[in-house]
Amino acid sequence: MANKNLTNAKRVKNDEFYTQYSDIQTEVEKYVEYNPDVFRGKIVYCNCDDPFESNFFKYFANKFKRYGIKKLITTSYAGSPIAETQLQLFGNEDSNKKKELPRRKNKKAYKIEINDVSDLTKDGITNLNDVKWLLEHDKNASSLLHGDDNYTTGDFRSKECVELLKQADIVVTNPPFSLFREYIKQLVDYGKKFLIIGNMNAITYKEVFPLLKENKIWLGNNYKVNAGAMFFEIPEDIANLKQIRKIKTNESGKKVYITRVQGVRWFTNLDHGRRHQPLQLMTMADNERFNKQIQKNDNSYKKYDNYDAIEVPYINAIPNDYKGTMGVPVSIFDKYNPKQFKIIGMAEDNGRGFSGGIWDGKNPHCIVNGKIMFKRIFIKHKEK
Ligand SMILES: C[S@@+](CC[C@H](N)C(=O)[O-])C[C@H]1O[C@@H](n2cnc3c(N)ncnc32)[C@H](O)[C@@H]1O
Repeated sequence: MANKNLTNAKRVKNDEFYTQYSDIQTEVEKYVEYNPDVFRGKIVYCNCDDPFESNFFKYFANKFKRYGIKKLITTSYAGSPIAETQLQLFGNEDSNKKKELPRRKNKKAYKIEINDVSDLTKDGITNLNDVKWLLEHDKNASSLLHGDDNYTTGDFRSKECVELLKQADIVVTNPPFSLFREYIKQLVDYGKKFLIIGNMNAITYKEVFPLLKENKIWLGNNYKVNAGAMFFEIPEDIANLKQIRKIKTNESGKKVYITRVQGVRWFTNLDHGRRHQPLQLMTMADNERFNKQIQKNDNSYKKYDNYDAIEVPYINAIPNDYKGTMGVPVSIFDKYNPKQFKIIGMAEDNGRGFSGGIWDGKNPHCIVNGKIMFKRIFIKHKEK
């Protein structure tokens, strides 16, 4: 029981990592670069986002006019353990105290809806100051959620939030890591466009892999940043020393603790330019001659003992002239171009079993000369 409580506490803490403004900006800009109208006339919903804390809210409120967003909806979650004073909506604590937004002390959850951001402050520019003005002066912009069923108020699965989801065109957020399977399934079930953060491990979830395989979803643009890790803000009272990588002052002038999480990716069904760029690859013969990774492997590609495919241990060693099936690392999805490759399936590693009958090898993992390989994705070149 004690162990279970500990695990639960850890889970809750891991759900309270806050995305940095600059990471949201770097990623979202790629979609706008690819399609300048991607958010135009659209209802954007951030459904795991307390606007006091969330940079998703700040980012889209700031870009409301520029991106031509029709409506921005943000809902917070009453189950969040963070006290109200942790991170501030606009970094100015005095003005936060003055305004009449619902407060967090009673662990209420609330909704903010923005339908227009014009130059309300009459300073010649439209920016977050106008959003702040709007929240202070327009009582309709923010309201308490009621809590209407068996879920904690503000839960993305609650009826109230599902009704908001139905209205939305695009959902953008970093959802709780511990509920990722359910979260992404809900978005797909409701046919929504989305851009969300998740762990790389989610690629092999049975709720996620088939969607990647069918090109219904894909990874975002920014895998290269920090070698696939992302830095998140963590509130002071749940940060522990082991987690803290640095202390910095964020865009709002607020001191925040930063933690590093390995293997974080954006998952999306919004198009971006990177997925249309083909991977530059060499022939099998050239790889055997020049590629150090293959040279380490006795200068040759091995066939699996238990499946009709070759083992390709590194993405840059995928031969461009091999016609059969190739087993490649999961990180293929970082560079996957649907016109270049077809996804055949996947095999789990370390005997953990295979997901949903996708793997048709006899064992739950790939074996080369009796040795179990890491998790592998099976691909083939698309015929030209
Ligand atoms: C990883 S944090 C990210 C917060 C914010 N989206 C961001 O990126 O800065 C996940 C957030 O979801 C909230 N949350 C946890 N469970 C939830 C649920 N069932 N429904 C909605 N939000 C939830 C947490 O309290 C936390 O604020």
